[in-house]
Amino acid sequence: MSESNQHIEVGVVGLGLMGCSIVTCLLMAGHRVVAIAPISADMDHALGRIKAHFIKSREQGLVNEPPEYYFENLLITEDYTALKNCRLVIECTIENEEIKKSVYGKIEAVIADDALMASNTSAIPISVLQRLSKRPERFFGLHWAEPSHTTRFLEVICGELSDIGKGEFLYDLSHSWGKEPTLVRKDIRGFITNRLMYATYREAFFLVENGYATVEDVDRACRNNAGYWMTLVGVFRWMDLTGVPAYHNVIKDLFPTLSNSTEMPKLIDDIVKAGGRGVGNAHGFYSYTEEEAKLWEETFTEFSYEIRKLALKYPVDVVKKKMAALNGKELV
Ligand SMILES: NC(=O)c1ccc[n+]([C@@H]2O[C@H](COP(=O)([O-])OP(=O)(O)OC[C@H]3O[C@@H](n4cnc5c(N)ncnc54)[C@H](O)[C@@H]3O)[C@@H](O)[C@H]2O)c1
Repeated sequence: MSESNQHIEVGVVGLGLMGCSIVTCLLMAGHRVVAIAPISADMDHALGRIKAHFIKSREQGLVNEPPEYYFENLLITEDYTALKNCRLVIECTIENEEIKKSVYGKIEAVIADDALMASNTSAIPISVLQRLSKRPERFFGLHWAEPSHTTRFLEVICGELSDIGKGEFLYDLSHSWGKEPTLVRKDIRGFITNRLMYATYREAFFLVENGYATVEDVDRACRNNAGYWMTLVGVFRWMDLTGVPAYHNVIKDLFPTLSNSTEMPKLIDDIVKAGGRGVGNAHGFYSYTEEEAKLWEETFTEFSYEIRKLALKYPVDVVKKKMAALNGKELV
C-alpha cells in the first residue's frame, strides 16, 4: 500500500461490476476512496462485493490485512458533495451517453477546477465524452479490465482536447495501482485493446457463420495458440520471437481473405434478441445449466488470481531486469 497515495483522494461514480473492483484496486493502492452510488441497488450490493474481493485477495496473498483495515479509507454514499476533495473522479456507469452526461454535471458541480475526471467507457470515444464536460482538457479515458484489482491492464486515453501532461500524470500514477498501463496519446474508437479484440471477434464470427469451424473449435484455437503466449508477449514481440519473414510472407496472401464485414453477425444478434447475456443468465454461445454458469464465474475468478501470479513473474521489461541482474545492477 503506497503511503503517498493516501493524500490523493479518488472518487468512483457507479458501483456495478467494474466500479466495485476499481474501488478495491484503489484501496489496495492506498488511496482514500469516495464511492458514489448513483442508483439504490449500488447501495445494497457495493460493500458486499468489495468485501468479497478483499476476502478472496487476502486468501490469495494480494493483501495482508482484513477488509475492515482498508474500509477505513472508504466512504460509500449517494451524496455527490462527498467528492469535493477528490483529485481524480472515475465515472463507471453504464455505457449510455445521456446517463454519463448527467453524472458529469453532478461531479463538476462539486470538484475543484484542477481535479481530473475520467471515464471507464469501453467504446465511446473520449473526444465525444469530454465535450459533455465543462473542462474537457482535464478529462481522460481510464479503461480497466475486470477484475480491476488483479489485472495489470489499463489504458490511459487522451481525447482531442485532453492536456497530455495530465494524461502522463495519470499514466505515472497508475503504476502504483499495480498496472502496466498504455498511454493512448491520440483518441481512436475502441482504443487499442478493443480494436485488436474486435478484429478477432469479427473473424471468429466469419469462421463459424461460414461453416469453417464450430464455436468450440474457434475457442480451442484461441486458447491454445494466442492464449499460450499472450501473457508473456504481445503480437510484435511474438513475431520477433518466431521469425519476422514468415509473417511477411503470410500477410500477402492471407490479409485479402480476412473478413472486413461491417454487418452485425447473426449469431450474436439472435442471442441478444432472445435475451441472452452469457453466463450471467446461463444463455450465450454455449448452453449452460444454472449450476454450470455459476461454476464458470467461479472458475474465472480463480483463474484470474492464478494467471496474475504468472504475469507478475514476467513484467514487460523482464529481459531488461534479467540483464541488470546478470550485470549485478538492480533496475529501479
Ligand atoms: N464489464 C466489463 O468487463 C467492462 C470492461 C471495461 C469497461 N467497462 C465499462 O465500464 C462501465 C460500467 O460497466 P459495468 O460492467 O460495471 O456495468 P454494470 O452494469 O455492472 O454497472 C453499471 C452501473 O451504472 C450505474 N447506473 C445504472 N443506471 C444508472 C442511471 N440511470 N444513472 C446513473 N448511473 C446508473 C450504476 O452504478 C450501475 O451499477 C461501462 O461504461 C462499461 O462499458 C466494462
